[in-house]
Amino acid sequence: MSALQASVGAPHARILGVGGYRPSRVIPNSEIVDLIDSSDEWIRTRSGIVERRWATPEETVQMMSVAAGRQAIEAAGLEPQQIDCVIVATVSHMLQTPSAATLIADELGTDHPAAFDISAACAGFCHGVAMAADFVRGGSSRHVLVIGVERLSDLTDVRDRGTAFIFADGAGAAVVGPSQTPGIGPVVWGSAGEQAGLITQKKDWLEVLADGDTERPWLTMDGNPVFRWAAFEMAKVAQDALDRAGITAEELDCFVPHQANMRIIDALARTMKLPASVKIARDIATMGNTSAASIPLALERMIEQGEARSGDTALLIAFGAGLVYAAQVVVVP
Ligand SMILES: CC(C)(COP(=O)(O)OP(=O)(O)OC[C@H]1O[C@@H](n2cnc3c(N)ncnc32)[C@H](O)[C@@H]1OP(=O)(O)O)[C@@H](O)C(=O)NCCC(=O)NCCS
Repeated sequence: MSALQASVGAPHARILGVGGYRPSRVIPNSEIVDLIDSSDEWIRTRSGIVERRWATPEETVQMMSVAAGRQAIEAAGLEPQQIDCVIVATVSHMLQTPSAATLIADELGTDHPAAFDISAACAGFCHGVAMAADFVRGGSSRHVLVIGVERLSDLTDVRDRGTAFIFADGAGAAVVGPSQTPGIGPVVWGSAGEQAGLITQKKDWLEVLADGDTERPWLTMDGNPVFRWAAFEMAKVAQDALDRAGITAEELDCFVPHQANMRIIDALARTMKLPASVKIARDIATMGNTSAASIPLALERMIEQGEARSGDTALLIAFGAGLVYAAQVVVVP
């Protein structure tokens, strides 16, 4: 019996370029407060959100993804045909099948890459980066486009006090490719399915139809326990990701946590004792919580504003519905 040949990948993987798309409709708190008996001041104090973006009908999941993906491919100095795998992390692609990834890959002008969606809610992008790094190192792909995209405005009840001011829309992307030096540290990831009920949908679509409802099965969130879980448990996960990458808090350049709540971001930074030299992503103030898109969008903004420079180390940590989480240290492209 002859031995099978195994694929051989690159020695290491790194992010080669990032991109983002921010929808055109800016929604200030003042546009939201009346329906939820809230105030601009309450939302700013409790969440740090000043405004968010909600997509127009033309700004579809596919459209936003293509824009972000194209920018990431250009930033990586590549042509679309060089992308041989497209991973799209989303919970708001409304078709059960085909996946968003195949449609996006086609519109981008790629050459028939592997293309599929993953469902890991707000942690989807970090899951995608972890997979992409392993694909590149394992030899199953050379250049992987990872997109995090959401239109959460389609799934958010504007009358729900617990979610209406938080969730938002957008797309972010990164190209992961080969590297001679480590550019993506070991992932620390996991799930806490026993807490699945904390962020979920009121019903599934079949139940909606069976019950004759005229409303969508909106997202629901029990914010307080999620807040405590994120602020305490995720600090340990973030520290673990640093330790596994062999980086101390003093050596870290940038901290790019999931943009869920400014108070969670501050609590994590405090618990981890991040020194003042570490630049912290605070995209949530103007973008709200864009779930899978939040980390690549925040990273893209830090690069654009010169806060994150090429060669810097950045700790990414994402967490969300599931509950699920993923964290890794990356080198900024
Ligand atoms: C949603 C969130 C901002 C709410 O903040 P909170 O401090 O936990 O607020 P609570 O639910 O404890 O409510 C506190 C008070 O504010 C009130 N309140 C709740 N929502 C309100 C709103 N939208 N506007 C005004 N008041 C509100 C409550 O009625 C309560 O009033 P009371 O003290 O008189 O009873 C916060 O829990 C949060 O960010 N959770 C995590 C979300 C997250 O990380 N999601 C990520 C996963 S994707």
